[in-house]
Amino acid sequence: MVVLTGAGISAESGVPTFRGPDGLWGRYRPEELATPEAFARNPLRVWEWYAWRRELIARAEPNPAHQTLAEMEAALPGFLLITQNVDGLHQRAGNRRVVELHGNLWRVRCPRERQVWEDHRVPLPELPPRCPTCGAFLRPDVVWFGEPLPPEEWQHAMEAAREAEIFLVIGTSGIVEPAASLPRLARVHGAYLVEFNLEDTPLTPLMDEIWRGPVSETLPRWWARFQRGK
Ligand code: OAD
Repeated sequence: MVVLTGAGISAESGVPTFRGPDGLWGRYRPEELATPEAFARNPLRVWEWYAWRRELIARAEPNPAHQTLAEMEAALPGFLLITQNVDGLHQRAGNRRVVELHGNLWRVRCPRERQVWEDHRVPLPELPPRCPTCGAFLRPDVVWFGEPLPPEEWQHAMEAAREAEIFLVIGTSGIVEPAASLPRLARVHGAYLVEFNLEDTPLTPLMDEIWRGPVSETLPRWWARFQRGK
């Protein structure tokens, strides 16, 4: 069982999604906040935006959908969770086998040296800290637009998609590549695909099974049914 999650799984924990009526990209311009050029131009502005998101996420709790994925991991030996989320809520719910395709907001890294540090401070200091080796401003250890995914994570995700028997696609708009190609890869290699979302996405036509509604309700129901059917 392989699972791909997106921002929709954290929506009911109070973490805004990127697209849709209340989405972050309706209020903010990604090119001013989520690109390496934006950070080079105005590190303070980018840093403040991540500091704000950290405060929001620090107050959030994993919801029943996150908890169901932690139960699945405990019950299924071949389970893998692939996430586009940077909020760390899957780990807080108890998942350990997590591939983070877009990094994690609770780490910072040096843009030059590539060194990475865990950083759980809330609130963050007003100015980005500097790299102890080269003096550059540290940046959030997340993937920005125009940047490649971390290669090991991506390899791991592709292997899992190829080997999956069941592939769950949860709370993602399915338009950001290359993550959105994982369900296609799983499909080509024979997986049974299930989508959990409020609405149709470009991935919907690939699906064998579709669950519409808030994922904190649909996923626990699907999992209960799956366990009965085993
Ligand atoms: P999006 O914001 O693009 O999509 C969220 C999806 O979740 C939408 O399809 C919603 O319909 C669905 N959704 C919202 N609330 C839900 C709920 N309660 N139950 C079920 N579904 C719900 O988020 P992502 O697909 O994760 O990238 O976005 C992909 C990437 O785009 C993000 O990782 C981020 C962003 O730019 C980077 O930061 C690199």
